Amino acid sequence: MDQNQVHIFDTTLRDGEQVPGCKLDTRQKIVIARQLEKLGVDVIEAGFPISSPGDFRSVEEIAKAVTDPIVCGLTRAVMKDIDVAADALKHAKRPRIHTGIGTSDSHIKFKFNTTREEVIRRAVDAVKHAKSYVEDVEFYAEDAGRTDNEFLARVIQAVVDAGATVLNIPDTTGYCLPEEYGAKIAFLRDNVNGIHKCILSTHCHNDLGLATANSIAGIQNGARQIECTINGVGERAGNTALEEVAMIMRQHPSLGLDTRINSKLLTETSLMVREAMGMPVQANKAIVGANAFAHSSGIHQDGVIKRRDTYEIIDPADVGVDESKIVLTARSGRAALAYRFKNLGYDLTKVQLDQKYAEFLNVADGKKEVQDEDLVEMMS
Ligand code: KIV
Ligand code: ZN
Repeated sequence: MDQNQVHIFDTTLRDGEQVPGCKLDTRQKIVIARQLEKLGVDVIEAGFPISSPGDFRSVEEIAKAVTDPIVCGLTRAVMKDIDVAADALKHAKRPRIHTGIGTSDSHIKFKFNTTREEVIRRAVDAVKHAKSYVEDVEFYAEDAGRTDNEFLARVIQAVVDAGATVLNIPDTTGYCLPEEYGAKIAFLRDNVNGIHKCILSTHCHNDLGLATANSIAGIQNGARQIECTINGVGERAGNTALEEVAMIMRQHPSLGLDTRINSKLLTETSLMVREAMGMPVQANKAIVGANAFAHSSGIHQDGVIKRRDTYEIIDPADVGVDESKIVLTARSGRAALAYRFKNLGYDLTKVQLDQKYAEFLNVADGKKEVQDEDLVEMMS
């Protein structure tokens, strides 16, 4: 593996689709899976095959529909789950079984009513069983974010010895601080024998708005796979947003890390997922929100019109957006008004602009946004 490449594991169709109201049918999932393949994701988590016949079918059909990415199916550390996942993945060119178990004291005591030793035993049995079907077995230590590092290292050592190829360290409840999460990844990297043969993976939830920061802290400390979703959809406050981590690596070459993502397809993919899931994206969402490249205050507009990068760190074309938007509101200045008039074919002199600007402010005070039709009316 190229040590500078971070694998993108997309779980829009599994963790993302678990959200109430976001359910997709098999046909929609295939369309999205093909788009994810075009986008350049390395792994598609296609579903949780034992959860329902529909999910089984989706995983099976996605496994047939895509060729480039690894297709992954989720299981609990339960033999039957693994048998069913292996069956659903039988047509995949590059199958991966993703199995695991809760490792925090809270999960061990309240969810399983068992002991740490028993959790290690179940984890090892699950990995060995999955290995009897496929070479590529990813292990997740659910609630790793709240699992103490010494015990987590014991679990991870045991599954590495059992043959796991990828080690997923989920911050299931979105609890960790970036430094803490990064230190957890570093601790495992430094304290598990043979871990360099495996890929460490981040899987961060956004309950405190830290999913992206935590994923980046993870890769800065040695993780080489990020689990994420388009638009950050996912349980509760969501998962790490794919578009955010991909663009952070692209915009910060000093990290020395990159992905295979074709960033020009990010907006198109985001629109496809919001449409299929019926899940709107907040206007101020980084990268793919409607306002991500919109400028409405006079000072910012003047700067952007003079030179785009005074207020934009990403060229909108790089994420598939035609151009930055200069939005006219009562906070806009003359530069923006002149710019918008010019786009409509009206080249105003300074005197004309002064006159129209006074008129414009009256119109703008009465509405949220002044549209092209309003400007044409002002000129007629
Ligand atoms: O958040 C989580 O822990 C998960 C696992 C099932 C991988 O989604
Ligand atoms: Zn999750």
